[in-house]
Amino acid sequence: MSEEELPVGVHEERVDVVEVERRNNDEPLFGSIIGYNDVKKLFQMSLSSDKPVHILLVGPPASAKTLFMLECMKLDRSYFTLGSHSTKSGMIDYLFEKRPRHLIVDEIEHMPMKDQTALLSLMETGIVSETKFQKTRNTQLRTWVFATSNGTDRMLTPLLSRFVVLHFKQYSFASFEQVCAHILGREGVPVDVAAAIAESVWMKLKSKDIRDCIKLGRLAKTREDVEWISQTLKTYKQ
Ligand SMILES: Nc1ncnc2c1ncn2[C@@H]1O[C@H](COP(=O)(O)OP(=O)(O)OP(=O)(O)O)[C@@H](O)[C@H]1O
Ligand SMILES: [Mg+2]
Repeated sequence: MSEEELPVGVHEERVDVVEVERRNNDEPLFGSIIGYNDVKKLFQMSLSSDKPVHILLVGPPASAKTLFMLECMKLDRSYFTLGSHSTKSGMIDYLFEKRPRHLIVDEIEHMPMKDQTALLSLMETGIVSETKFQKTRNTQLRTWVFATSNGTDRMLTPLLSRFVVLHFKQYSFASFEQVCAHILGREGVPVDVAAAIAESVWMKLKSKDIRDCIKLGRLAKTREDVEWISQTLKTYKQ
């Protein structure tokens, strides 16, 4: 993972469907994400395609999937929806009213099957159709769908086939160290403490979750703290 970009603070928004203004910052798209330069390039290619190319990110926890979605919210006319919060009518209403260019679905595997079905037509033809109270309304959109999932078991096969599916792998120790160093550096953690945290989390706690590094980074002030906290967490580990 080669990397020159520095991350910026991003926090997760747990909201149903949100209209997001293009953020007024000079940071490049995906600038908060360390590594994944090939994935960033694929997104850029999708975004500059005349016709929609939908992308699904599948992967283990804390592999930056949601971070990619948050970055996509910088795009014009982007709408964010959390799979578990969506309802068919809610999503369809949004599609009719807001006509989003980018529909961002985090954790799509939690989206009810009927909602996944509604996406099939949108993604294939751009057509959204709804019959309510014996009245039918139709519209035609040009919408790119970007989504994430921890797995694909709960997803309809025809929906999967409409995406370019990218399976993120667990970080190697080298990547883990690098991501940890960047994130903790951003939080003001000294370099040597950040290095000790990456090593302790990976080796001692046997965790590959970057979120554990962030927790330790916020608790520890010194390398000795890192040693003590990781020993304590190990004692109480399940
Ligand atoms: N490559 C990376 N660049 C920058 N931050 C990263 C990277 N990988 C992980 N992180 C950090 O790890 C944390 C988790 O990232 P994120 O929420 O995107 O994970 P996720 O893949 O969506 O995980 P989950 O499946 O649990 O939802 C965030 O604080 C994020 O900043
Ligand atoms: Mg996530």
